[in-house]
Amino acid sequence: MSIFRRKAIADLQAEAAGEHGLKRALGPLNLTLLGIGAIIGTGIFVLTGTVAAQNAGPAVVLSFVLAGTASIFAALCYSEFAALVPIAGSAYTYGYATLGEVFAWIIGWDLVLEYALSATTVAIGWSGYVVSFLNHIGIPIPAQFSAAAGTQVVMADGATVTAVFNLPAVLIVVLVTALLVRGVQESARVNNIVVFIKVGVVLLFILFAWRAIDPANWQPFIPANTGSREHFGVSGIVAGAGIVFFAYIGFDAVSTAAQEAKNPQRDMPFGIIASLLICTLLYIVVSAIATGVVPYQQLDVPDPIAKVADAAGLGWMTRLIELGAIAGLSSVILVQLMGQARVFWSMANDGLLPPVVNRIHPTFRTPWITQIVLGVLVAIPAGFLSVREAASLVSIGTLLAFVIVCAAVLLLRIREPGLHRPFKTPLVWFTAPAGILCCLYLMYFLPWRTWERLLIWLAIGLAIYVLYGMRKSKLAARSNP
Ligand code: ALA
Repeated sequence: MSIFRRKAIADLQAEAAGEHGLKRALGPLNLTLLGIGAIIGTGIFVLTGTVAAQNAGPAVVLSFVLAGTASIFAALCYSEFAALVPIAGSAYTYGYATLGEVFAWIIGWDLVLEYALSATTVAIGWSGYVVSFLNHIGIPIPAQFSAAAGTQVVMADGATVTAVFNLPAVLIVVLVTALLVRGVQESARVNNIVVFIKVGVVLLFILFAWRAIDPANWQPFIPANTGSREHFGVSGIVAGAGIVFFAYIGFDAVSTAAQEAKNPQRDMPFGIIASLLICTLLYIVVSAIATGVVPYQQLDVPDPIAKVADAAGLGWMTRLIELGAIAGLSSVILVQLMGQARVFWSMANDGLLPPVVNRIHPTFRTPWITQIVLGVLVAIPAGFLSVREAASLVSIGTLLAFVIVCAAVLLLRIREPGLHRPFKTPLVWFTAPAGILCCLYLMYFLPWRTWERLLIWLAIGLAIYVLYGMRKSKLAARSNP
């Protein structure tokens, strides 16, 4: 059937090796830093608190372990593909080569949840830290305009107000979009500096806050279930893992830089796995400290890490941590919006999206129309959604993409066993099914509302494919001249 037409691996490899105008400048260290830059963000700085307070209690640490395990299985599968077809389209391209066009489309469409909606989520997290920082230096931002629509915000004097929308979150998306339209040099050096700042503040937090741990705060480690499967108990840990899974998203950003890697066959797997392992370790330690210093019930705030740092008596260092978080989160938004434009670029090149997507601005040399449309689509939900709602939807979308990638690795092993694979997923007959099962398990525990939204999103995507991509696909035109 034509919708299952596939791109040949050999063609993709030729495309990867051919002239593409990008400089091969990234080595293993830069790739690892790129991954860390994309991974550490709102997940650890914000979701740790809301998940501890609402889902898992101090056992949020176990939620991080569970989500990290699912991510590591998926990362090993990603690595096999990233070394085999080192091309910017990432999971979308892997899908095109193995499962066929309609699946590639579904993954590409699904990646909008991973990239564009994560930019939304990170913008909401950014807002929490900016508002906190400004408040601390005496510039209060009215609560009505700094939280999701409809949120009841308790003011310092105990009065409650209903928020209208989240203005800072909208503003940061507008600002980053303007930068991307104007054209930013994607410089590895700038990324490295931001990563050092971001990891620096996380280490600062770990080094100074652990002393304030009161082990009594870890009791009970797993608070009793409250009657809903999402709140506490073992099911709360799994539900929490589905949400903090968001914190691990980003290691696959390494694979979108494949064409800029000096030695992608060797360094892609290294960058993906090393960045993920480092972040997993940091997350486990940070979440243990956070729930050890402040009782988990009090962590449901927009800036939990700053709150913990304040409670640990870090004083001026807390302001430094906030500034580091603000800088770090800004760069995640930038990477996500740029990553989204790249995936769209690959899809438009294949004829699955209209050519206007790739229209380049005559002066700035950027895909400006795509960036502006994206900016608007990302800014609107940033003003209205809560960080949990947005993160759950990103998580479910990304988990689905990971399930498909793990399945695709197996399928290709069966279909083309003799292919030269520079990196082989270790114990693939265990790792890939384990990745699929872990990701499905986390998806199963996400709220039904999130499932509904995912299904509606996929239905819209399929309709667009049938009305547009299926007919305009370049691969189709090539196979039926
Ligand atoms: N993993 C990224 C974050 O936590 C998306 O912000």
